[in-house]
Parts: sequence; structure tokens; C-alpha cells
Amino acid sequence: MTFQSTSTAPRKILLGVTGGIAAYKAADLVRRLRDGGAEVQVVLTEGAARFVTPLTFQALSGRPVRVGLWDEAGEAAMGHIELARWADLVLVAPASADFLARLAAGLADDLLATTCLATAAPIAVAPAMNQQMWAAAATQANIQTLRQRGVRVLGPGVGSQACGDQGAGRLLEPTDIASLVLAPHIEAGALSGRHVVITAGPTREPIDPVRFLSNRSSGKMGFAVAAAARDAGARVTLVAGPVNLTTPVGVERVNVETAAQMYAAVHSVIGSCDVYIGAAAVADYTPQCCAENKIKKTCDTLDLHLEKSPDILASVAALERRPFVVGFAAETNNVEGHALAKLQRKKLDLIAANEVGAERAFDREDNALLLLWPGGRQELALKSKADLAREFIEFISQRLPVALVGA
Ligand code: PMT
Repeated sequence: MTFQSTSTAPRKILLGVTGGIAAYKAADLVRRLRDGGAEVQVVLTEGAARFVTPLTFQALSGRPVRVGLWDEAGEAAMGHIELARWADLVLVAPASADFLARLAAGLADDLLATTCLATAAPIAVAPAMNQQMWAAAATQANIQTLRQRGVRVLGPGVGSQACGDQGAGRLLEPTDIASLVLAPHIEAGALSGRHVVITAGPTREPIDPVRFLSNRSSGKMGFAVAAAARDAGARVTLVAGPVNLTTPVGVERVNVETAAQMYAAVHSVIGSCDVYIGAAAVADYTPQCCAENKIKKTCDTLDLHLEKSPDILASVAALERRPFVVGFAAETNNVEGHALAKLQRKKLDLIAANEVGAERAFDREDNALLLLWPGGRQELALKSKADLAREFIEFISQRLPVALVGA
């Protein structure tokens, strides 16, 4: 049996623009969204209208722009409730610290905030503010509240800011925001409000300062799963071994080298994790000690003493307050039998088995998975890792409530 994806992309986007210097970038965003096939209705806060005129947005969107709640002509043409019902998605970009606070508090003191309260559509926000304002405890608490309510948070980006500071708080680039919201959504926000932790890539276990034990994993499968979880609305932490891949936009990445470092990185974020997916090819064994200097070629043979590395997946599954735990099984033979044994031995909720080898799964653009869980199995046929990851994440999101209720 194969699994059918039910992905859809929003076509009617209500773009809310709030007051901040990044408001000028929203003009480009309107173009990107329209180029991607969306209809765009712009609502400006009064602060935004001080930075960029409504006329600019009207010309770019091809629709009258709404600003105030008390605009009689505007309300007569398309009232705030109609606006709220019209949208497939409400996207606020840039979202200022003030607007995030008002949204978190449930205020309805201007047209945009009122529309957000009145809509049944998913809401996404792309924050933009000074790095200190972003780091402020109040802003972080507001973001946490919004995430828990299912609001999708895009970014912010990290880098130089208009005020001269460096750090997190930049508006993501309009092209990135457009591609994030226009990517077909897995049942719009299927993982909204969830924190998903994913491991990807190989680990490197040092033998001496210049040599290590590792494996063929490229990280492509885990990175594709991270992008799909993000597209499903999750907050995603990607713990990555040494790979040569670009971080999916909007995903928090933690780089590690060894199995021990991956174990520590996973456990430092697991407290808030709802779903853990172990896609990394973690070394099962690591050298007992790493030589201080390069080992010299003095003997015909060389004995390496290895010890078991920590089993990250089993340790997460053994937690008292455990997330939904998904493992992978990379097997060269008896794929289903070995994967089933891992599912049971490590007490997993789900395992994704793949046949691996020089010509399969590792470092390829495509893959196939056999999903096994206590009492069930499902095959996901060979396809690109990006498409496969979407089906996989959609499958997980559908099993999630059942698993959480049963927990
Ligand atoms: O990275 P790519 O090139 O795209 O290739 C993808 C992949 C083949 C690496 C991926 O699809 C995959 O199968 N990942 C898991 C690889 C693996 O280590 O499988 P395993 O059967 O040895 O381990 C079983 C599970 O235990 C895995 O979830 C693994 O992450 C976890 N594990 C293993 C050992 C350990 N010490 N700690 C762990 O958490």
C-alpha cells in the first residue's frame, strides 16, 4: 500500500505589514507572492503606513489596501470579517515586537489585530526587530505563546541590522518568506505548535588528530525531513553531523561531530520536544581513546580498541516524559526483520527502515522507506528525498494525536 499526500498551498494571502524599517521589504514580498500565483490583499498598520505608502502596495498587489478599522469606504467594500474569511493564510511580515505582543494578548485594537482574531485561516508571522528586542524575555514569551497556539514563526534571520547591531532579528528575505509560505503545506499547519528535533548526517569518531571513523551518510534524508517538518508548521531543531548542506531556512541548526556531542546536543533541547526523529547515522562504536599525536606507520598491523557509543535514540525513548519517538533503520539485509527488532528493543513509536548500500539510500537524491509501528506497516515508494520526507512527516502528524492520547 502506498501513502497519498494531501498537500495544498495557500492561494489567497492576506499580508499584514506592521511598523518597522523592514516594511519596505514587504513591497518586494507582494511581488514574490504574486509571482508564485497567490492573490494578495494587503493590510497595513498605521505605523507601517508611515514607512511605506498604501499606494505602493496597491500598485503592487492590484487591490485596494486597508489601513484603519474606522475606514468607512474600506469597510463597505470589504469589511474586516470578510477579509478574515477571504484569506487562506494570514501572513504578517514584518511582524514588529509590538504587534507580536498584541497578537499574543489577543487584542483587537486595529484592523490587522482584529482580522487575526476573526480569521479561521492559519497565521504566519515573520518577526523583524532589533536583536535585543528579539532576545527580550517578553518577546520570547510572546513567541512561545503564539507557537503553542499554532502560529507559524518564520525566522527571524541573523546578521547585520538597520540600527547597526548584529544578531537575530532581521526579516527573512522576501524570496525565502514567499517560498516558505507557497510550498504546498502538509495539511496546513499539521505540526503547528510542535517542536520537532531531528538528527541528520554521520558522526566522526576521532582516532588521532587527523583520522576518524565515519560512514557514508550525506545528511540529505535528515535535512529533507527537517524542511518538511518546518513546512508542516513545526519549530524544528536539526542536530547535524559534519555534512556539506545548507540549513533549510527557518530551521535551527546545531552542528556536532561525534556521537557523544550529538547525544549532548539532543538532550539539551529534548525538554521541549514533541517529536524526535533520529535520521542520523550515528557511530555504534567509538575509539576508546584518541591518540594525542598522529599514529605512525611503525607496525604491519594496528589494533583499534572501540567501545559502544551512547545510543541517543534509545535514551530519548527511555525518558520519563518522552516525545513521540521515531527511529530509522539502515539495513543491508533482512530489512523488515532487523527494523522490527529495533522498534521493539528501543521501544519506539515508529521506525523508518531503508535498504542501504553503495548504490542505495546513502548520498542519493531518492529513497524508499518501510514504516513499521507496533501492529502496523506501510511502504513509502521510491521518490525524491524531498517528496518522501513530506509523506513521512504527514504520516507522523496523522499518528501523533493517537500516540499522545495513549501516552
Ligand atoms: O544521509 P543520507 O545520505 O541521505 O542517507 C540517509 C540514511 C540512510 C543515513 C538514513 O535514511 C538512515 O537510515 N539513517 C539512520 C542510519 C542508522 O544509523 O541506522 P541504524 O540502523 O544503525 O540505527 C538505528 C537508529 O538508532 C537510527 O535512528 C539512529 O539514528 C539511532 N542511533 C544509532 C546508534 C546510536 N549510537 N545512537 C542512535 O541514536
